[in-house]
Amino acid sequence: MRVIGCLSGTSLDGIEIAAADLTLEDGKLLTRPLGSRSEPYPGGLRGDLEAALPPARTSAAALCRLDALVGQAFADAADRANEALCEGAAELVVSHGQTVFHWVEDGHARGTLQVGQPAWIAERLGVPVVSDLRSRDIAAGGHGAPLVALFDVLLLGSAPDTRGALNLGGIANVTIIPGAGDPIAFDVGPGNALIDAAVTHLSGGAERLDEGGRRAARGSIDEPLLNRLLSDPYYALQAPKSTGKEHFHLHYLLEALSERPAIGGDDVLATVTELTGRTVGDVCRRHDVAELVVSGGGSRNATLLASIARAAPGTVLRRSDDYGIPSHAKEAYAFAVLGFLTVHGLTGSLPSCTGARA
Ligand SMILES: Nc1ncnc2c1ncn2[C@@H]1O[C@H](COP(=O)(O)OP(=O)(O)OP(=O)(O)O)[C@@H](O)[C@H]1O
Ligand SMILES: [Mg+2]
Repeated sequence: MRVIGCLSGTSLDGIEIAAADLTLEDGKLLTRPLGSRSEPYPGGLRGDLEAALPPARTSAAALCRLDALVGQAFADAADRANEALCEGAAELVVSHGQTVFHWVEDGHARGTLQVGQPAWIAERLGVPVVSDLRSRDIAAGGHGAPLVALFDVLLLGSAPDTRGALNLGGIANVTIIPGAGDPIAFDVGPGNALIDAAVTHLSGGAERLDEGGRRAARGSIDEPLLNRLLSDPYYALQAPKSTGKEHFHLHYLLEALSERPAIGGDDVLATVTELTGRTVGDVCRRHDVAELVVSGGGSRNATLLASIARAAPGTVLRRSDDYGIPSHAKEAYAFAVLGFLTVHGLTGSLPSCTGARA
């Protein structure tokens, strides 16, 4: 079956799309990647989404409008991907849409909301669309995240040593696959969320990311700020656990910075980059991860990768590209697989990873 997977991550940097030929043969899932694409949101849609996200207030009218416009943007992007990657012969589209809120309270996920009305995609391409991929898992008591765990397990296979898959999106999530026993997965904390928030704030919106981690590399880590950020109780919670940008956003950072008002911009970036590196490194050490396969936009941040390597000296870092999946496209491929499983009546989430009832 020719399947297109698409999503826009929490960084709102655009729509990621991947296409694959998927086949079930003798209980085995065969995946033939057909290629991937990234498209920025058209016009002012990114700005409109940002204006509606926490801690900003929004309205039902604004959410309704965003739901339709994001759905139309996904339909356009999926249509182009169908021509470019599938010779116009896609049979299924799997759309995760755009997360606008992931509701976590008392350590439990209570709900999750993605916009990007899938009917626009179905109407444009004339094929079924699987969407709303997190809600069933949450209804079954899970966190609805990270949903890529099953794909990670299929991609990395089994090995005698513990291996991990890390996605550095707005939020960093990890799947840990031990040599023996069940895999676990959870959101580690902010991936690029605070880095992007700091750059955008410091540059007055002129820049959105720390290209290659260059600003962070020029700065010095501010230990008091780092310790203040590391004291967030989220890091000490047991897995399964999930978080989002409704927690790790600019105001969260500004509150911590209010106690250290004299720090320079590059030093702030060095510190929030180290925060991600340190928290990921802690996970690697705690779980004795021998190899960590990194994906997501943060894998282009050399300072961040160096920070992870320092914090996890016993872990070999690799990229998902080494396993045949381009690091920017792993989630899009993962969602293609999840939707394929869904239309075949198969479960796509792993209870040991999301905490859902089996
Ligand atoms: N060249 C680069 N240098 C430094 N950072 C980069 C570069 N390219 C991308 N990034 C970072 O990666 C982020 C986008 O990554 P990605 O698309 O994987 O995450 P996402 O959209 O938040 O998805 P999700 O949260 O669902 O994983 C950007 O916001 C930026 O912080
Ligand atoms: Mg993205």
